[in-house]
Amino acid sequence: MSLRIKFNLVMLLTFAIGVGLAWFSSKTILEENAQMEVLQNADIMMEMAKSIRAYTVNEVKPIIEAGEHAEFIKQTVPAYAATTNFDSLRKRFPEYTYQEATVNPTNPVHRATDWERGIIDYFSSNPSVTEHSGIKETATGKLLYISHPFRLTNPACLACHSTPDAAPASMIELYGRENGFGWQLNSVIGAQIVYVPMSLPLQRAQGALNIFIVYLVGIFVFVWLLLNLLLHFVVIKPVKEVAEKADAISKGQIDVPEFEVKGKGEIATMAMSFNRMHRSLASAVRMIKQQRKQQATKRN
Ligand code: HEC
Repeated sequence: MSLRIKFNLVMLLTFAIGVGLAWFSSKTILEENAQMEVLQNADIMMEMAKSIRAYTVNEVKPIIEAGEHAEFIKQTVPAYAATTNFDSLRKRFPEYTYQEATVNPTNPVHRATDWERGIIDYFSSNPSVTEHSGIKETATGKLLYISHPFRLTNPACLACHSTPDAAPASMIELYGRENGFGWQLNSVIGAQIVYVPMSLPLQRAQGALNIFIVYLVGIFVFVWLLLNLLLHFVVIKPVKEVAEKADAISKGQIDVPEFEVKGKGEIATMAMSFNRMHRSLASAVRMIKQQRKQQATKRN
């Protein structure tokens, strides 16, 4: 096997192992990073929903109540404001869904599923926990989620969620007297949850990984070309010349020209030694030829 093939095989093997290791180690890191990034976005969206709720109940509702519209107006409901705003946000970020999962909701679309009840119970029994995130398996694939508890801390909420009699009559007309009442101050009545398909962070991670691997392959091709050029000009070409010259000398062509020695490296030393050997051999051959000639003249 030629030196070039051996060298390239070793390089290829090293590179394949290197890329494999880089792939495996960076894949998990990139996926974790992408998940964290997506969860952070979800968190920001949730905070946005929260601030819209606070704005509605603290800023909008008092003004409306003080004005002509003493009656119930849907637009002053924090849940309505938050979900409506999230819906318009979803036009740009359709992957994110927001749920105000509640055990006893005013609007049945917010009723918590069994799985969501698990999260609400978890928040109820762990009052110090303010955030919980994880991965949920569904029939259509994995979902990444982040959730915050709905702890009823603002007494203003009780205006509509304590008893049907305390709530505005026009709200009762719309929503009935059955649901969304009897909520206790400081209790966890539900959870805000933002869901994102797991495919979103995975796709992002894959994109970053592909770019990384393309760069790695690019660097390898560059180094491979450079080392092959170096191998050719610094090792293979001079060694080939020495071999050809040695071959010619061994076949009796003593008068081939000497090497031009450049530099002081190993190959230059080899060329120098070869020149010395060539010279010694040439003078030895010359001496033998002279002796033979003398012997021949003596005999005559
Ligand atoms: C003006 C009356 C009103 C006030 C004040 C009010 N809510 Fe509501 N709330 C409603 C109505 C009506 C709905 C149903 C909205 C819908 O159709 O999506 C609702 C929905 C909700 C929901 C979603 C689950 C459900 O019941 O459908 C949560 C959670 C909620 N409110 C929490 C609060 C909190 C917390 C506060 C205080 C910051 C508050 N609400 C203040 C009237 C009110």
